[in-house]
Amino acid sequence: MPVAMKVWVSTLVFLVVGSEALTVPLINDLEPGKGWPQRNSVKQPNTHSEEVDPFVSTTEFTTEDPSFNNEEATVTNNVAAPPKIIARAEEIESKVDYSGTQLWKVPTDKNNARVVIGRLRRRNLISTWSGNQTYIDILVKPNAIENVTRIFKRESIDFNIVIEDLQKRINEENPPLDENEVELQDRRGHRMTWKQYHRLEDIHGFLDYLAKTYPAIVSVKTIGKSYEGRDIKILRISDGKATNKAVFIDGGIHAREWISPATVTFFINQIAENFDEESDDVKNIDWYFLPVVNPDGYEFTHTSDRLWRKNRKPLLGRQCIGTDLNRNFGYRWGGRGSSSNPCSDIYRGSRMFSEPESKAVADFIKTTSANFTAYITYHSYGQYLLYPWGYENAVPPDYIDLDEVGKSMAEAIRSAGGSQYTVGASSKVLYPAAGGSDDWAKSQGIKYSFTIELSDTGHYGFILPTSFIESVAKESFAGLRVLSRQLNKNLIN
Ligand SMILES: *[C@@H]1O[C@H](CO)[C@@H](O)[C@H](O)[C@H]1NC(C)=O
Ligand SMILES: *[C@@H]1O[C@H](CO)[C@@H](O)[C@H](O)[C@H]1NC(C)=O
Ligand SMILES: *[C@@H]1O[C@H](CO)[C@@H](O)[C@H](O)[C@H]1NC(C)=O
Ligand SMILES: [Zn+2]
Repeated sequence: MPVAMKVWVSTLVFLVVGSEALTVPLINDLEPGKGWPQRNSVKQPNTHSEEVDPFVSTTEFTTEDPSFNNEEATVTNNVAAPPKIIARAEEIESKVDYSGTQLWKVPTDKNNARVVIGRLRRRNLISTWSGNQTYIDILVKPNAIENVTRIFKRESIDFNIVIEDLQKRINEENPPLDENEVELQDRRGHRMTWKQYHRLEDIHGFLDYLAKTYPAIVSVKTIGKSYEGRDIKILRISDGKATNKAVFIDGGIHAREWISPATVTFFINQIAENFDEESDDVKNIDWYFLPVVNPDGYEFTHTSDRLWRKNRKPLLGRQCIGTDLNRNFGYRWGGRGSSSNPCSDIYRGSRMFSEPESKAVADFIKTTSANFTAYITYHSYGQYLLYPWGYENAVPPDYIDLDEVGKSMAEAIRSAGGSQYTVGASSKVLYPAAGGSDDWAKSQGIKYSFTIELSDTGHYGFILPTSFIESVAKESFAGLRVLSRQLNKNLIN
């Protein structure tokens, strides 16, 4: 039986089966396009095409949501082969199509809402995008809308249709640049703008351009390779003073969170292009920026599936691809809010640091001579400023310091651009999730470790139009300035 059909048949079963006890981790920014309708199957990059059936989608096998059930997936189909990077032309026709898919905002004050959502998710009728203690944003498949509506009505669960047709939003999200911009790009010597979500090539080209243009303060280093062989590039901005503090900032751990690399590259541009005019607070820091931690996933969201979250490394013997890099870091790895099922969107990997991308970040932080006092990782969405711990409902001994700095950053963001950020420990504000990069950074003695979930609060979600990039990045930079001021203040004390 085709897998898709199995999914629908199992729906019938679930409608009859009674309620299970639910320990739903409220997974923020979770769940990509598994099981969604496709124009064509997503072409898997591979070098041994004879071993791989191009018409078998790797994204439609999840019949059980592993965040509810930690059993290993039992689907075995083909073994994904070593990949190669596909040419752009052949990718165009093989994108996952989200036509008719809807985004709903669902209040979870009613007791049964989470139970019902959990069941629908396991039956692959919906996926969750984001959630906090009071709301969940869910994606509803086009052919499930009728049934899910009926079930919600029957169970008296309210919902609000936020996006009527996701594919329409995706089509409108990232329009090509106008002629003036293209002309400007040519004159500038790099293609990066904050009027578009750019491909990896433009981002890396921009980093190299800055290193070449400002060799006295900017340098670029490749700290490792992704699974598919792409560079993992760090840019450092420093005037070389021995008394400088060091700050590490990354973005793009999750592939589909496009606003994150856009924001981190905006910071880079602000500091590198205006270094002499910058405040002492900014100049007294050695800045390390890694705008795209997950380059394979990032490219995949441009070429094949806009909602891909994980990296792209297959697991031998499994047809599901990718590990959630933000569940793969080595502090309390394997705990709550992470899955052992390779088909899950929160798959933690076969062991801590099993993935080249997370390992490259950790190896760099551990072995570089820089002594980081802050680690900030940018994600989307929801507007949260979160500090450890994520692995369980607990806070580190010095959490008051983090809370204070976090709140002053949030206040700066609000007065700069108006966006309200919720500040708190991630396990408390959202849900426990073990294996996050912020927990690991904190465990390494980096005092100010934050995960920042950028805009918005769920009107556009991951599909934030390009017209928002500059305002989101600008207000975020106001927050970063406050952090640099605090770090310099602490230095004097
Ligand atoms: C939870 O999400 C809702 C809807 O997105 C939002 O209005 C609310 O402020 C969030 N709660 C917290 C504590 O951030
Ligand atoms: C909707 O529910 C009906 C039974 O009530 C079932 O036959 C049908 O397959 C369901 N559709 C989907 C997409 O689950
Ligand atoms: C790193 O910085 C911390 C805090 O500023 C300090 O306590 C520690 O001794 C430093 N470590 C090294 C190796 O310089
Ligand atoms: Zn994320």
